[in-house]
Amino acid sequence: MSLAMWNQRFADAGERFVFGEAPSHFVESQAPRLPAGSQILSVADGEGRNSVYLAGLGHTVHAVEFSPVALDKARLLAKRQGVAVRFEQADVLTWDWPEGCYDAVLAVFIQFASPDERRGLFRRLAAALRPGGRLLLHGYTPQQLAYGTGGPPCAENMYTEALLREAFGSLEILELRTYEQHLSEGAGHSGRSALIDLVARRPA
Ligand SMILES: C[S@@+](CC[C@H](N)C(=O)[O-])C[C@H]1O[C@@H](n2cnc3c(N)ncnc32)[C@H](O)[C@@H]1O
Repeated sequence: MSLAMWNQRFADAGERFVFGEAPSHFVESQAPRLPAGSQILSVADGEGRNSVYLAGLGHTVHAVEFSPVALDKARLLAKRQGVAVRFEQADVLTWDWPEGCYDAVLAVFIQFASPDERRGLFRRLAAALRPGGRLLLHGYTPQQLAYGTGGPPCAENMYTEALLREAFGSLEILELRTYEQHLSEGAGHSGRSALIDLVARRPA
């Protein structure tokens, strides 16, 4: 989807949050394992549900997102919850990525990237981690196309365990899990879903 289409999608929702205001269950389940006061990068952060939640736990969060409409909503969510997040508007496919500095990099439903785009994007995710830092990646498997309850209708943008194992071969894989679950994350992710989680650490 183009930037104009994402803006339209977020604007059409009015005051509602397309993916809800609560963090993803994956982020919530991984949060207790993050060291206190972590430096976290949230990639394609959307309307801020994950970055705001993590900032509320005391982490320092840098959230990058290309839709100004989503960012306005994210700023509102942060204000309402009384937390500070460093929001930055950028296209992550062309962004000048920081390297080697985050305790955690969050990539939750970033399946807008085609296989070609994904190669560079995945390299950047891994390179942004400091040694010992964790990548937290959450998305859909190809089975999701049968459910149609969220994500793009493009099989090639989905992830399998083999694909992630190969793409993140430079990292130590701590968890890699394919499963199905009912999601209720706003209107955007709603219903039975085919999911995949990866938690991986950059070697110290
Ligand atoms: C499915 S949403 C997920 C948002 C958020 N990670 C979450 O889980 O709530 C995908 C997000 O990627 C953003 N996005 C798409 N292409 C992008 C790009 N090239 N650079 C930065 N953000 C992008 C969209 O605007 C949208 O907010």
